[in-house]
Amino acid sequence: MSALWKANFTCKTDTDNLNLLFSRLFAILAHMTMKVLVVEDEEELREILCFFFESKWDAEVEQAGTGDDAITLLTGPEKFDLVACDYNMPRGNGGKVFQFVQTMAVKPKFILLSSDLPEDHPEIILSEIAGYAPKPLFSAPLESIVQKIMAEAPVAEAAPDLYCRVSVELLHKLNVVPCDLYIKISDQKMIKVMNAGDVFGDVDAEKYQQKKVAYLFIDQKNIDEVVQKLIRAFRQLEKTFDPKQRPPGHIHISEALQGTIHEMATKLGFSAALESLVKANMETALAVIDQNPDLAEILSGAIVDTENYLARHSVLMPFIAAHFAELMEWQSSQTFQKLIIASFLHDATISDDLLAKVQVEAELAAFTPEQAKVWQVHTLLASEIARQFTEIPPDVDQIIAQHHELPDGTGSPNHLNHTRIAPLAALFIIAQDFLLYFENTGSLDLLAFTERREAIYTVGQFKRILVALKKSQARA
Ligand SMILES: [Fe+2]
Ligand SMILES: [Fe+2]
Repeated sequence: MSALWKANFTCKTDTDNLNLLFSRLFAILAHMTMKVLVVEDEEELREILCFFFESKWDAEVEQAGTGDDAITLLTGPEKFDLVACDYNMPRGNGGKVFQFVQTMAVKPKFILLSSDLPEDHPEIILSEIAGYAPKPLFSAPLESIVQKIMAEAPVAEAAPDLYCRVSVELLHKLNVVPCDLYIKISDQKMIKVMNAGDVFGDVDAEKYQQKKVAYLFIDQKNIDEVVQKLIRAFRQLEKTFDPKQRPPGHIHISEALQGTIHEMATKLGFSAALESLVKANMETALAVIDQNPDLAEILSGAIVDTENYLARHSVLMPFIAAHFAELMEWQSSQTFQKLIIASFLHDATISDDLLAKVQVEAELAAFTPEQAKVWQVHTLLASEIARQFTEIPPDVDQIIAQHHELPDGTGSPNHLNHTRIAPLAALFIIAQDFLLYFENTGSLDLLAFTERREAIYTVGQFKRILVALKKSQARA
């Protein structure tokens, strides 16, 4: 096995980031969806108002017939951008709704729609309302108020921390919109761009590609449902793979799923949804390994772009680790399962591509103290996540916890020497070393790799594994 394959890994420049921000803004202007609450006790007028918003703007409208009903909706999970509210209503007037809005952490814009002037009601603070449209001739003033709101504040305030990223590539490959999708335009602002149940088609993918938008966002509270939908779509897609083409087809989709695994692990830690996703990805990797694929073909075929380092690294690890396990004659399905799950999770709590390339603590000097901390705890956090998985073979957490230890005891985080590093962890460490060797040199020459590592892997299991790898090349 030898091949020369040059991999170029680049990182984004500031200009790229700026372009990305502008592209996102353009995307937003083209696709803004406004969430509106219409509060009006006269049913016919309420229907007209709803129609008015829906027909003029890309608006999703909820309605309430009393002030109290409006307040109930405002306290619910739905986040409104705008409340268009009558004043004189039974069970809670417009003043009560306005006062409630003032207490909200993220206040929707409030428009008073009434035959009374806002000045007639002292509880309504004029500077705090977005505008006033008199009834019944509300149409023109209402339209200009809404246009002004959109021009001044085109997006709803939201907390991006409550959202998980999902790659445009994954949505496109699976052709699904598993829940409402949002776009992030700054650290404080998110806006909805697609609705649950839409089809994510070529046109959508092309649009985001042109705008250089690689990720959309989903509300964390929908994560379980989203993951189940993604897995179902993934299984459907898998059936369409040509068996001869399967490794490359599988790896690209698996890489896209892996991005979501990293996102969920980083944001939420362990969750049942994360476990389902890892297991789904594992089953597919196992099926590919069963077909005895050519490692060189997988590695060279998988690296077609220079982005997604982390996801690709985690998705390629199972194939190298399983190949090495085979060479050691440790090829039980349990062993493969352990190595695959460890591969998908070992760096799952790191979200920075450059940080994920760090192998020894000394390299952390180039990072901020916060980044260094993330790296220092990543083996522990990821092994904790694995420990909470159910019905998986034992010791996966141990492989993960030890994946930066070294045979001479200089590794991280516990400076374990070779006598305390588990055999499968030793294999995983060497497999990762080989993947990095390939990433850095473009070479898949295993013989050259073993010769370069003879001075490092000199003892115990490490030495035995290196000898087996070398022997396999002598036979080849
Ligand atoms: Fe790591
Ligand atoms: Fe790694």
